[in-house]
Amino acid sequence: MVQPYRHEPFTDFTIEENRKAYLAGLKTVERYLGNEYDLLIGGERVTTAKKLVSYNPANKNEVIGRVSLANRGLAETAMQAAQEAFKTWRKTKAEVRADILFKAAAIIRRRKHEFSALLTKEAGKPWREADADTAEAIDFLEYYARQMIKLKDGVPVESRPNEYNRYHYIPLGVGVIIPPWNFPFAIMAGTTVAAIVTGNTVLLKPASNTPIVAAKFVEVLQEAGLPKGVLNFIPGSGSEIGDYLVDHKNTRFISFTGSRDVGVRINERASKVQEGQIWLKRVIAEMGGKDTIVVDSEADLELAAQSIVTSAFGFSGQKCSACSRAIVVEEVYEKVLARVIELTKALKMGDPTNVSNFMGPVIDQSAYEKIMNYIEIGKSEGRLVAGGKGDSSTGYFIEPTVVADLAPDCRLMQEEIFGPVVGFTKAKDFDQAIQMANQTDYGLTGAVITRNREKIQKAREDFHVGNLYFNRGCTGAIVGYQPFGGFNMSGTDSKAGGPDYLLLHMQAQTTSEMF
Ligand code: NAD
Ligand code: ALA
Repeated sequence: MVQPYRHEPFTDFTIEENRKAYLAGLKTVERYLGNEYDLLIGGERVTTAKKLVSYNPANKNEVIGRVSLANRGLAETAMQAAQEAFKTWRKTKAEVRADILFKAAAIIRRRKHEFSALLTKEAGKPWREADADTAEAIDFLEYYARQMIKLKDGVPVESRPNEYNRYHYIPLGVGVIIPPWNFPFAIMAGTTVAAIVTGNTVLLKPASNTPIVAAKFVEVLQEAGLPKGVLNFIPGSGSEIGDYLVDHKNTRFISFTGSRDVGVRINERASKVQEGQIWLKRVIAEMGGKDTIVVDSEADLELAAQSIVTSAFGFSGQKCSACSRAIVVEEVYEKVLARVIELTKALKMGDPTNVSNFMGPVIDQSAYEKIMNYIEIGKSEGRLVAGGKGDSSTGYFIEPTVVADLAPDCRLMQEEIFGPVVGFTKAKDFDQAIQMANQTDYGLTGAVITRNREKIQKAREDFHVGNLYFNRGCTGAIVGYQPFGGFNMSGTDSKAGGPDYLLLHMQAQTTSEMF
């Protein structure tokens, strides 16, 4: 009997033993920095001359690793390997598939701090953020394995006398998994294993900034006993193999998480039926956010300020769920703003391998330039009240930045910045604050800080986001507790870590037998 699901606890780094364990993980990672990693196609390791080099964003001269790059020919070989493996994997018992996820979770749990330290090095995640990313990866494995066991016999339907009807779920086929770099472990692992545990075979194209953690995860799944060809690991460029695989006639579904532009492109391309294609491709596309914390006049203002700062600047604002807009009712606007400025100025930024740094770098040069450009736009659209400076001499560091007095329709309040920048807008009352919060193409997360139950109810009805939180920040959804996914241009609302997620990777079949 499988134990009930409980999410993986976060590590308390105020305890010395835990700090030592993390530092030991860091030592392990340092021993393999610069190593080379292969593609995995049909169970065979493939080395290519062309490599993708992964760098530490906090120290741009440090190479994390080099990974072989797939071209179209190798992507095609991987597609064929996945099709071949599907013939047997689709018939493998659900419990057997689930056991591989349970085993992988156990392996990762044993190497938890090593994985977190790798996230610190490869993605610039401070300890707590890295620890949460690893915990979420474990959660996805544990949760989806249990969900598959629940779904394995389908759902009962009625039968008449002498008739036996059954309704059950079967896998789709070969899926292409395209994750982002910002949850390089959790989202990469979660999207991959959801597809696999449901009986599909996959081609995993990791994000170009974070291929090493993906390569390490592939090793874990091999160690856990995943058969050849079920998971094919093919790092490569979006334009070369991304489009090729999205367009491929044998691709049955695409599981994408990333930016709005790439998600829309994938959705459009996938909708074209190619010659020889005998299905409509299914697309799961989870995209960007422009997430808002609304602060009411009847609110705990300290909680409001703490929630804004944590949600805006955790992992340097590089979360789809990050708070990039604070909409505050005018009676309390100046008070909340003043406290946010104070808290922001007290944040420590620097090398993420140092536990006392709350914030590390942003991911790369192009993110650095894009965010710095938005800060310039912010200075012209509003009033810069904290931060605003960057330093890219050794790594890509940008101060936590607050811009006040913005119009709700200005660029800073409308476009996804994906960096440590939060904009403030004043609302005349709660109703207007909710209306401003909805004034965006996105609809991923949002939070409301209020003591008034009627206003909570109003927000439940009218604040149009996939994940709505009350009296807390707007980041940090937990698998199995707060299923995650957004409305409108934030995506297809697939609700990762939720009870319906696996169904998106399957199709229902009805059988009816006469006795
Ligand atoms: P991105 O869109 O640049 O890249 C995402 C993935 O798409 C990467 O693996 C990339 O290599 C691949 N890709 C790029 N071009 C492609 C193409 N033509 N065909 C196929 N694949 C292609 O996004 P990113 O910078 O990695 O991630 C940040 C974005 O992801 C932000 O917008 C953030 O809000 C979003 N995000 C959303 C969620 C969510 O659950 N809604 C979660 C995390 C991140
Ligand atoms: N699960 C992540 C969060 O909620 C994206 O912040």
